[in-house]
Amino acid sequence: MTVMTPVLEISGLGKTYKSGHVALSAVDLTINKGEIFALLGPNGAGKTTLISIVCGIVTASSGTVTVAGHDHGRDYRAARTMIGLVPQELHTDAFETVMATVSFSRGLFGKPRDPAFIEQLLRDLSLWDKRGSKIMELSGGMKRRVMIAKALSHEPEILFLDEPTAGVDVELRRDMWNMVRSLRERGVTIILTTHYIEEAEEMADRVGVISKGRLILVEEKNALIKKMGRKTLTLNLAEPLGAVPEELAQWKVELAAEGHELVYEFDSQAEATGVPSLLRRMSDLGIQFKDLNTKQSSLEDIFVGLVHESGAAQEQAA
Ligand SMILES: Nc1ncnc2c1ncn2[C@@H]1O[C@H](COP(=O)(O)OP(=O)(O)OP(=O)(O)O)[C@@H](O)[C@H]1O
Ligand SMILES: [Mg+2]
Repeated sequence: MTVMTPVLEISGLGKTYKSGHVALSAVDLTINKGEIFALLGPNGAGKTTLISIVCGIVTASSGTVTVAGHDHGRDYRAARTMIGLVPQELHTDAFETVMATVSFSRGLFGKPRDPAFIEQLLRDLSLWDKRGSKIMELSGGMKRRVMIAKALSHEPEILFLDEPTAGVDVELRRDMWNMVRSLRERGVTIILTTHYIEEAEEMADRVGVISKGRLILVEEKNALIKKMGRKTLTLNLAEPLGAVPEELAQWKVELAAEGHELVYEFDSQAEATGVPSLLRRMSDLGIQFKDLNTKQSSLEDIFVGLVHESGAAQEQAA
């Protein structure tokens, strides 16, 4: 078992905007060195607000942030230097060249010039051929690559990616995830937000779910899927059924595909799933099937359920 070293510690974090809108309340979160953490939540949940506070763009109304032992308030520069941010909204110096803007970014954090490092960075992001182009001449996807190069220019230990793959093409998405994996291999900690839950499912070690400014869940991804996971068993029947037979009423079965499929939903963690007994009873009844498959509920199913529940609970409390 590997020892977990906290690299980012957030405690009691709250944000109320001037408008009076409470965007975050009492958020506690510890991120460990080298992990990929996905922050999920619907539009307006507070994801960007959380990231913006850690990156010093928005000031917190309450709470503390510690980055690798550096207090965010007292020791801001040291804390910020360890962080790279690829923001949700793209904004770059339109008239600068790719090379100049990325090199300048590195300088901003007080890192010594390192042309070989910058060259490798631009090559990794397929930007080397564009190094002399002005940012405003680039396509949206290329601009996003520049934002990533800027975020990595000072070799941060923690990288925030706020909706990195919203509206990007397949190739950039693939490059992005390859880059994330290789950064992780080098020990960089990655915190990302995404609306593509299957991405979080594929990439993240842990996930956090935020809803209406509250962090309602933080869990290892695999444990979460296992714990909350339900499975469905689908049987393709040899002969279609008009209705679920009385004898099968004790199992939660439904007919689908115009009676050609019998679908049984069960708790995969339960001691008795009911699958063997259902199959035995069907065989006793002479109901034959040609094929069967089982499907585990995805992170997406779990996420939608959670956000829905927490929304309902908060409305009741209000
Ligand atoms: N500068 C601001 N002033 C007032 N309210 C704000 C400000 N910035 C954000 N908000 C509000 O705070 C809430 C959280 O916004 P935030 O951008 O953090 O959400 P998000 O989870 O990143 O959403 P999305 O998935 O759409 O990016 C929203 O209701 C938003 O309207
Ligand atoms: Mg956002």
